[in-house]
Amino acid sequence: MEVAIFMAKCLTVLGIESSCDETAAAVVKICQEEGTAITLSNVVHSQTADHAIYGGVVPELAARAHISHIDGLIKQAMIDAGLKYNQLDGVAVTAGPGLVGGLLVGMMSAKAIAMAYDLPFIGVNHLEGHALTPGLTQGLQPPYLLLLVSGGHTQIVSVDGVGQYERLGTTIDDALGEAFDKTAKLLSLGYPGGPAVEKAAQSGDEKRFKFPRPLRGKDGCNFSFSGLKTAVRQQAQKLENIDDQDVSDICAGFQCAVVETIKDRLGNGMEMFAQKHSDVGQKILVVAGGVAANKHLRAGLEKVCEDKNYQLIVPPIELCTDNAAMIAYVGALRLARGDVDELDMSARARWPLDRHGAPMPFAGVKA
Ligand code: KG4
Ligand code: ZN
Repeated sequence: MEVAIFMAKCLTVLGIESSCDETAAAVVKICQEEGTAITLSNVVHSQTADHAIYGGVVPELAARAHISHIDGLIKQAMIDAGLKYNQLDGVAVTAGPGLVGGLLVGMMSAKAIAMAYDLPFIGVNHLEGHALTPGLTQGLQPPYLLLLVSGGHTQIVSVDGVGQYERLGTTIDDALGEAFDKTAKLLSLGYPGGPAVEKAAQSGDEKRFKFPRPLRGKDGCNFSFSGLKTAVRQQAQKLENIDDQDVSDICAGFQCAVVETIKDRLGNGMEMFAQKHSDVGQKILVVAGGVAANKHLRAGLEKVCEDKNYQLIVPPIELCTDNAAMIAYVGALRLARGDVDELDMSARARWPLDRHGAPMPFAGVKA
């Protein structure tokens, strides 16, 4: 819904996030004239421990945990910001994409606050939160290229402006974080798998096992990780009495294949972005999502940025992973444009950032 441009000098927005396994609330204030964005509060409860024994996020458990924690977190975010609800200018919430049970919990809470205090309601696309985070953390404005690598998404996006996104590439099957998690599960390394695989890889020989580099050398910048995952499984099954060194060598080989694949795909994405934005001087690559914590990946990204003459920007890791500050920030930007939603807005399991991007049949919400 588009309404008249909101003329307030500064806008303070409460943001709520519950699309996966983090319950989060935050308050962000933007002052458009000064060009500033301040995070007044930002609280997150991670459900990792609840899901660890299952080796992945269990949607029903996630939804129940969101119900248990959301009220306390919203209250805490308001106390930390030193504000009362009637001092807010709007309430923003992740409306998708994500697990519907969790999304509904956040949306019901946001709608209740919006209704009780007669505040504008903004249903935010979670991916837009990740895409615009560098505006909040580094004051960076589009256009820039985004690599989003999380447990749920693996995409290369041309961020052309607020509300203007072109998906240049996406996974056609598994997300990258998911591939790390499945590799860790297969090797009994626990959950979440990414940090465990990275740790094991430190003492491994990346050359011992040669894993495939999926789609390397192909046109475009889509990703595929399911073949790599299968190759890891087959290799593990071939080894009898697999010991710690074998596990480390597999992890190092897997990580090396991942990084080489990302460098190849991103190289193509960077060329596509550079052609599209030939007028932009210093091209910028922003990385978001939990997998951005991986040091081997970061080193690979630095190398490809150097080769392609891009500047690499990585927001602080706590704002690369799921949080509500990014949702509050997008909510404030949209409110400033008068772009708000009705209270009957539904949660959306699938909500592509790029409206024109074709769906990927085997990737579901991950694309
Ligand atoms: O963005 P995020 O916190 O949550 C969502 O997926 O929405 O990302 C979590 C993902 C998990 O798959 C986790 O295994 C992965 O990020 N991850 C890592 C590392 N730290 C977290 N993957 C590789 N290396 C890491 N150090
Ligand atoms: Zn996310």
